[in-house]
Amino acid sequence: MNSFCEFITCVVSGLIHFQVDFRCKSEWMSELHLVHHPPSPPTVSPQRLDDPLSTRQELLWWFQVDAYHGTKIPDPYSWLEDPDSEKTQAFVNAQNQLTVPFLEGCEVRDLFKERMTELYDYPKYSCPFKRGNRYFHFYNTGLQNQSVMYVQESLDAEPTVFLDPNTFSDDGTVALRGYAFSEDGEYLAYGTSASGSDWVEIRFLQVEGAVPLEDHLERVKFSCMSWTHDGKGLFYNSYPDQEGKSDGTETSTNIHQKLYYHVLGTPQSKDILCAEFPDNPKWMSGAEVSDDGRYVLLSIREGCDPVNRLWYCDLQKSPEGITGLLPWVKLIDNFDAEYEYVTNEGTVFTFKTNLDAPRYRLINIDFHSPEQSSWKELIPQHDKDVIVFATCTYSSFLFVCFLHDVKNMLKMYRLSSGEELRTFPLDVGSVVGFTGRKRDSEIFYYFTSFLSPAIIYHCDLTKDPLQPHVFREVTVKGFNPSDYQTTQIFYPSKDGTQIPMFIVHKKGIKLDGSHPGFLYGYGGFNISITPSYSVSRLIFVRHLGGVLAVANIRGGGEYGETWHKAGMLANKQNCFTDFQCAAEYLIKEGYTSPSKLTINGGSNGGLLVAACVNQRPELFGCAVAQVGVMDMLKFHKFTIGHAWTTDFGCSENKQQFDWLVKYSPLHNIHIPEGNGVQYPAVLLLTGDHDDRVVPLHSLKYIATLQHIVGRSPKQTNPLFILVDTKSGHGAGKPTSKVIQEVADTYAFIARCLNISWVK
Ligand SMILES: *[C@@H]1O[C@H](CO)[C@@H](O)[C@H](O)[C@H]1NC(C)=O
Ligand SMILES: *[C@@H]1O[C@H](CO)[C@@H](O)[C@H](O)[C@H]1NC(C)=O
Ligand SMILES: *[C@@H]1O[C@H](CO)[C@@H](O)[C@H](O)[C@H]1NC(C)=O
Repeated sequence: MNSFCEFITCVVSGLIHFQVDFRCKSEWMSELHLVHHPPSPPTVSPQRLDDPLSTRQELLWWFQVDAYHGTKIPDPYSWLEDPDSEKTQAFVNAQNQLTVPFLEGCEVRDLFKERMTELYDYPKYSCPFKRGNRYFHFYNTGLQNQSVMYVQESLDAEPTVFLDPNTFSDDGTVALRGYAFSEDGEYLAYGTSASGSDWVEIRFLQVEGAVPLEDHLERVKFSCMSWTHDGKGLFYNSYPDQEGKSDGTETSTNIHQKLYYHVLGTPQSKDILCAEFPDNPKWMSGAEVSDDGRYVLLSIREGCDPVNRLWYCDLQKSPEGITGLLPWVKLIDNFDAEYEYVTNEGTVFTFKTNLDAPRYRLINIDFHSPEQSSWKELIPQHDKDVIVFATCTYSSFLFVCFLHDVKNMLKMYRLSSGEELRTFPLDVGSVVGFTGRKRDSEIFYYFTSFLSPAIIYHCDLTKDPLQPHVFREVTVKGFNPSDYQTTQIFYPSKDGTQIPMFIVHKKGIKLDGSHPGFLYGYGGFNISITPSYSVSRLIFVRHLGGVLAVANIRGGGEYGETWHKAGMLANKQNCFTDFQCAAEYLIKEGYTSPSKLTINGGSNGGLLVAACVNQRPELFGCAVAQVGVMDMLKFHKFTIGHAWTTDFGCSENKQQFDWLVKYSPLHNIHIPEGNGVQYPAVLLLTGDHDDRVVPLHSLKYIATLQHIVGRSPKQTNPLFILVDTKSGHGAGKPTSKVIQEVADTYAFIARCLNISWVK
C-alpha cells in the first residue's frame, strides 16, 4: 500500500497530522518589490515584560510586497523563510527564550509530566503478522522512545527482539519509517528517518539471524516498498539530487519523484529506473506487486485528492526481468476517481473505488476486457456507511471495514460473489490495525476508543463457526474508565448541516459552564477523526476537570467524498464555521464557557485553529496550533506543499486567490473590535525538522500576531511559540519528546485559563 497522504496518529497525544506527500511545481511569477519601510516598534503583550524581539528593528529594515492578480500583499516577515539565516535563528532563539520560562512557571507542568509518565507507562502491542513461517509484532514496554520489532516462531513461542529502533540513535530521534518483507519472509527492507524529517534511508536485513546487508538507499521520500516475489529486489521511490542540504531543515520543493527497482546486493547507483514523468513534475507513483506476484500495479497521484491513475505491467511478458522503464499498460489514465488494488484472481482484479460512489464500492475489472462497460460491481456502495479499507484473506474472503457515523464496523464477504457473510461485533470505536493477507488463514484486528487503549482480536478462519477472541487487552493502571463517559452528539452548523461530535467527561458532572473544555478538530484531506485513546487528554479530563470534545467537521472523510468536498476549495470556510459552531454548542449546553475553552489542531488542523482565532477571538480562551499551515498564499512553494492545492487551491489562480486571502491565518490578523475583546492565549508548536509543513508558517504567523495584536493594550493573553529541535511533523517522535510536548501544552492551558490540578 502506498503512503501518499496517509495520516499519522501520534498515539500518545492523540495529535493527528496529515502526511501530505508530493512536491511543488513552482510556476510562481509574482512581482517582488523590495520596499523600504520604517521599522515597526517592537511589540510586547503585557505578560511578556521583557521585549520579545529587541533585535527586530535591525532585522526589519525592509519588507517584501507581492502582487497577486493586481492586489498588493505585504510580506514583512518573508526573511523568516530562510531557515539558515542568522536573523531567523536569532528570532527562534528569542522566541524560545520567552516561551520556555513562561512554561516553566506553570505550576501544573511538573505534575502533568509526572502523571503522564506514570499513566503512559503501559505495554503497547501491535497486531501480530506472519511473514514466511515467522510471526512479528511491535512492542513497547511503556516508555521506550521507539517501539521494537519482535519475532516468534509461533504464536506461543517466546518473542525475541528482531529490530530495535532505540539502537538507531542515542536520543531516540531516529525512527523506523516503513518496512517490507520479501515474499518468502527471508529479507527485510526498512526505512529510517532522522529528527522527524520525511527523508528516509532504506536498509536491508537477512531475517535469519537479523544479519545486516550492505545495501543502502538514499534520497527516498514518500516511497512505496514492494518486493518482486522472486526475492531479487524491490520497488521504491526517490528524488533527484538537489542543491544544498536535504536533512529536513531545507524548504526546497519536492518534484520529479521517480520509481526505481533495487536489485539486492548491488549499489544504489545501479538501480533500474522503472517510471518517471518528466512532463508532470508533481506526479508521484507507488508500485505494488499483485498477490500472485505476476503484476506490478502503479498508482499515480498528483495531489492529495482521493484519485489516481492506475497503470500495470505483466512481469510474465518480460522474461528477461526488470531492465529498464517498464512497459506500462495504462488501465486508468485520468484523475477522475480512486482505484485501490484489493486482490486479483488471474486477470480479474478487484478494486476499491469512489467512481460514481462517494462512499466507495468494490468493482471487478478483467484485464482481458478492460473497457468500462465490462466492469462489474462486487460490493455496492452503502446508503450511509463509507468503506475505509478492504482486504482479501484466506484466499476466498474479503474483510471490509466501514465507517458508520464515525464508528468502525468490520464485515466479511465472499470474494467470488460479494455475498455478505457476517459482521464482527465491535464496541463504539475504531479499528486501527488489521493483519491477515491472502495466503494467511487468520486475522488480527486492533480496536481502540476514547476510554479503551487496545483490544487485539484474533480469529482463526479455518474454524467453523468463526469465533474471534480477545488475543490481548491492555488496561491502564491508575485510571478507571468506568468513572467516565463518551457520548456522540450531532449539532447543527450554520447552514443546518448536522455535524457529529464526541464528548468525553467524568460521569455526573453539572453542565453549568464551569468546566474547562478542550475542542479538537482537523477538517481536511479526506481524513476521518475516529475515536482514539489519548493519555494526555484523559489527564486533562481527570486532573484538570475537563471536557474533551472531538468535532468531525466537514473536509474529513467521515461521510465519504461528499463530506470531504464540502470542506475544501471554495467550501473551506465550512470547516471553520463547523468548528466555531461546535464551540457554541459546547457553551450553549453548559459543557464549558468561552474563557475556559481551548481549541487544538495540528497541520491542516493548525490552520483551522488559527483561522478560527482570527474569525472569532472572543469564543475561545486558549488556542494551541501545532505545525500549522498559516501562509495560504505561499504554502505551495515549499517542500511538498504543492500537493495540498487539491484541498486548498493555489494563489496563482485568481479565483482561488480570492478564497485563500479571505481566511489565510497570516493575512487576517487584526485587533478585535469591542471593549475588552482580545485574542485568546495562543501557543504555536513546531519543529526545526518539519519538512512537511515547514516552520516558517508558524514563525511568520507569530511574528505578525505579536506585532499587530500583541501591542494592543487590551491584549493581556500571551502569544507564544515554541520551536523544538531535532523534531519534525510528528511521525516517529520519541516518547520522551511527546511527554514533554503534552506537559508543555496542558501546563500552558492550565496557567492561561487558571485551571488548578484536581488530585
Ligand atoms: C528516551 O530518550 C531520551 C533522550 O532523548 C532519554 O533521556 C531517555 O532515557 C530515553 N528513554 C528511554 C526509556 O530509553
Ligand atoms: C478517503 O477516505 C475514504 C474513507 O475513509 C477511504 O476509503 C479512502 O481510501 C480515502 N482516500 C485516500 C486517498 O486517503
Ligand atoms: C483562579 O482560580 C482561583 C481558584 O481556583 C481563584 O481564587 C482566582 O480568583 C482565579 N484567578 C483569576 C485571575 O481568575
